[in-house]
Amino acid sequence: MSHMIDLRSDTVTKPTAGMRQAMAAAEVGDDMWGEDPTVNELERRMAELLGKEAAVFACTGTQSNQLGVWAHCRAGDELLIHKDGHIANYEGGAPAVIHGVTCRMFGGSGGMFEVADVESVLHPVDQHFPMTRLLCFENTTNKGGGRVWPLEQFRNVSNWARERGLKTHVDGARFFNACTAGNYQPAELVEFIDTISICFSKGLGCPFGSVLVGSQDEIDRARRGRKILGGSLRQAGIAAAAAIYALDHHLERLADDHRHATLLAEGIQKIDGLSIDPDSVESNLVFFDVEEDAGTAEQLVMALLSRGVKVLAMGNQRIRACTHLDISADETQQALDAVRDAMSADLKSVEMQESHPYAYR
Ligand SMILES: Cc1ncc(COP(=O)(O)O)c(C=O)c1O
Repeated sequence: MSHMIDLRSDTVTKPTAGMRQAMAAAEVGDDMWGEDPTVNELERRMAELLGKEAAVFACTGTQSNQLGVWAHCRAGDELLIHKDGHIANYEGGAPAVIHGVTCRMFGGSGGMFEVADVESVLHPVDQHFPMTRLLCFENTTNKGGGRVWPLEQFRNVSNWARERGLKTHVDGARFFNACTAGNYQPAELVEFIDTISICFSKGLGCPFGSVLVGSQDEIDRARRGRKILGGSLRQAGIAAAAAIYALDHHLERLADDHRHATLLAEGIQKIDGLSIDPDSVESNLVFFDVEEDAGTAEQLVMALLSRGVKVLAMGNQRIRACTHLDISADETQQALDAVRDAMSADLKSVEMQESHPYAYR
C-alpha cells in the first residue's frame, strides 16, 4: 500500500520542513546545567503563556505527568482520578511504581466530572486511609471521548478541591486543542490549578517533548524528579526549538483538525452499522461504535487497514480516529469513503489475526 491515512493518533505526525529547519538552527547548550538557551526560552514562554512561575521540559507526556505527581505526592498518598484517566490507565502503573501512590477512581460523563462525583469517593482523614493529596483532570479527555472541559464546570471542581486542601494537576496532553475548541485562553483555566502537563508531540506536531508548568517550588521539585528518572537531557534545545516553532505556527491550525473531525463524525453518522453522537465530537478525537450485529471494532480496523486507513480499536465495539497535522480535508474524505466501503462489505467475515498493533483498550 503506497500512502496510508493514519488516524490512529496525532502522535504519528512527522516534523514539517519548517520545523526541521528550526531544529537544525537551534542554539543549544547543556540543559542539565540550565545552559540550553532554547530550552530556557521554551520554559519561559510556557510559564508566561499559562500565567505560572515556572516550567520544566520533559521527554514525554507520561514523564511530565509523573513529574506532576512527584511535585505533589509522597509514598502512601493517593491521587483522585476519573476512571478513564491516562495517568491511571496508560502509564504502566507509574504512580505506584515510581512514587508509592495509589489511584482512587470515580466516574463522570465524558472523562469529566462534577464535585459530587469526586465527593462520592472521598474519605475522611484517618489513620486507616491513604492521605488524599491530589486531584487529576484531563483536558481534552482522551478515553473519555476527546471532550473539552467547560470553564465553569472546571472552576467549580478545582475551587472545591482547593478549599479541601487538595492539590490539582491537569493532564493537558491536548490542552491547546481544548483551548481552541472551548474558546478560552490557556491562562484562564490554569489559574485554578497547581500544575499542568502539555504535550508537543501530539496535535502540535513535534517529534517529542512535553512541559510541566506550575509554581517555582513545584517545578524545582519536578526538576529534581526528572533528574532521578533519567529525564535530564543535554542539548535538548533541538526538541525545544520544534516546540517553539509549533507555538508560533501550529496553534491556530488546530481548528482545521477539529473541522475534519466533525466532517468525519457527520459522515459516520450516515453509515449503517455504526453509531456515533456527532455532538460529542468536540476536538480532534472521533469515537464511534460498530454495532454488534455488524461485527467488531477489530474487524473494522482490519477492513480499513486493507483499504489504506489506520484507526484504533479501543474496546470490543469502540473505534478511535484522530485527525491531525498530516491529514488534509481530502484525506478525511477518503477515510470516510473507506469506512463506508468497509461497512458495505461483510465485516463479520473479516478474519482476525491473533494480535495486531491497532488495539489500545
Ligand atoms: C491524555 C494523554 N495523556 C498523556 C499521554 C502520554 O504521552 P506520551 O505518550 O508522550 O508519554 C497521552 C498519550 O497519548 C495522552 O493521550
